[in-house]
Amino acid sequence: MQDLKVTKCLTPDSNGHPGNGRGSQGGEGANAAPSDLITIIRNNIENKPCLNGKHLVNVIGYQNMQINIQSFRRLAKKSLNKYFGKSVLYSNIDYESNFDEYKTLQWRSEAKEFYSPRPRILSTVAGLLNYLQNNKYFSMDLETDMRLNFQSVVLDTGTRDGYLIDVLESIGFNNVVGIEFLNDYVDYAKTKQRNVCLGDVHDIPFDDETFDLIVCRHVLEHTIDPIKVLSELTRVGVKGSIIFISFPLEYIPKGKHTIAIPTTKAITKLIKDSYINVKIVYLGASEDLYIIPDGKEITIILEKIA
Ligand SMILES: C[S@@+](CC[C@H](N)C(=O)[O-])C[C@H]1O[C@@H](n2cnc3c(N)ncnc32)[C@H](O)[C@@H]1O
Repeated sequence: MQDLKVTKCLTPDSNGHPGNGRGSQGGEGANAAPSDLITIIRNNIENKPCLNGKHLVNVIGYQNMQINIQSFRRLAKKSLNKYFGKSVLYSNIDYESNFDEYKTLQWRSEAKEFYSPRPRILSTVAGLLNYLQNNKYFSMDLETDMRLNFQSVVLDTGTRDGYLIDVLESIGFNNVVGIEFLNDYVDYAKTKQRNVCLGDVHDIPFDDETFDLIVCRHVLEHTIDPIKVLSELTRVGVKGSIIFISFPLEYIPKGKHTIAIPTTKAITKLIKDSYINVKIVYLGASEDLYIIPDGKEITIILEKIA
């Protein structure tokens, strides 16, 4: 993408409110209430795909202000964070009453979804196991008394084609299952002999206290009731189980991403609001840990309290 010149940027006004780049002469964003800001931003940005597949943000009303969406987020982050930092943002559409629409929205038909090997998943697994091993949760040696080993019962939620199951099995885990709520992915996974069954992460089709390790990689942002999802992920874990969750850090729900979790504070608040009996053992916005990100990604590791 060519370098685009930013001629104006969003800066907080003198009252500390997120500004709209028009100074304090009463532009509509200048003193906006937090909830209105979402609308203002939505109404003022227009995503235009450009040749290399990235998106440009065209801020309407500002001549020549076209910036790369990443730069826009960086510019907007400081001002938005002040208001959006602690809360998850939900889509305007009531997907609970339009569940078929929600399912259709989540469907991706592109063959690229099934590319293999998938370096991001490999790096997630490597990083997770490394973390668990270093923190004395996991041992490859069955004789060592740690809560996780190769015989642990593992659930991968929203597993898509079940690739992560293959990875875990190839390392030595022998009791891994995935759930996925789109039939076509389940059917595809089965052709690869992957242990995947149909199931919604809002209502996981397993008994309480079934799993030792629960993985929810890049699924939470696709859900419509993340509090329900968190309580389901916790319900199916045994006491002392580990729940691994990761998702992209985003400011606005969009497309398949039915919710946006803008900060580590927001996920902490969500966990608190879920009243789940867990302790956070790791929380980070991880460009540095073990994920190869598209942008910033949040990783959270929970332990179900015994
Ligand atoms: C971005 S993909 C992530 C797939 C895989 N976990 C990974 O890390 O590559 C999101 C997956 O979650 C699935 N999904 C979305 N909503 C779901 C739900 N409510 N229950 C189960 N799976 C869901 C989608 O169909 C899709 O396969």
